[in-house]
Amino acid sequence: MNIVLFGKPGAGKGTQAPRLAEALTVPTLATGDVLRAAAQAGTPLGLKAKDYMDRGALVPDDVILGIVRETLAQAKYAGGVILDGVVRTVPQAEGLRDALASLGRQVDAVLNFDVSNDEIVRRLSSRLVCSSCQTPYMSGAVGDACAKCGGKLVRRKDDEPDAIRNRLEVFERQTAPVFEWYRTHGARVATVSATGSVEEVTKRALAALGRPA
Ligand code: AP5
Repeated sequence: MNIVLFGKPGAGKGTQAPRLAEALTVPTLATGDVLRAAAQAGTPLGLKAKDYMDRGALVPDDVILGIVRETLAQAKYAGGVILDGVVRTVPQAEGLRDALASLGRQVDAVLNFDVSNDEIVRRLSSRLVCSSCQTPYMSGAVGDACAKCGGKLVRRKDDEPDAIRNRLEVFERQTAPVFEWYRTHGARVATVSATGSVEEVTKRALAALGRPA
């Protein structure tokens, strides 16, 4: 299965992606994680992406599509992929369609995680992420080390109030139209309420994929 996880920043895509990956035995590609790791390592890709990310702006489509093509070419992804953070623009939707088509594949489902802006601001202003494996946590609910790998928990620069505001504006302007693009291009699309517990959201997502937990 090739599944696109869609939704506002903070909707819970990064929380749900590994849970769906485990349930469906399909690996994930999280472009935000790839870009943050590259920025931390100081690679040319990371240095190029960092400025966009810190402001809450989108990294150029050609950079993102390069990562997507490189990832899909790996043997690990031959059986499918759960895309967390792609697709965010119509050119990315077209590029992903072409990349999958060249492998005889297509997007099988698009899950739109739906949450109010108030809840998004609440979540992102209190989020901590592991500086090593990037697992997200709610501050207050954890200590100062990642429960999975022991890495240090830090606040993301793009979770500052100005960057959150900008990311929500960018979502409405550039990313929201992508869901409609999929709807009109024959993809299987479903909107999943992403409020309630993490476990409830996973159940709803699996049900939307026709795979009840
Ligand atoms: P990226 O890392 O993808 O950020 P994002 O889309 O803004 O999404 P987030 O990671 O902020 O949120 P999420 O939906 O994953 O929510 P999470 O699970 O963490 O991208 C960062 C940047 O990289 C972009 O701004 C851009 O610059 C660049 N980029 C990446 N991909 C790109 C692309 N394709 N094109 C161009 N640029 C790109 O959850 C949020 C919080 O809520 C966490 O604390 C979590 O613990 C909590 N939470 C989750 N679920 C629940 C729940 N059910 N109840 C209560 N709390 C919950």
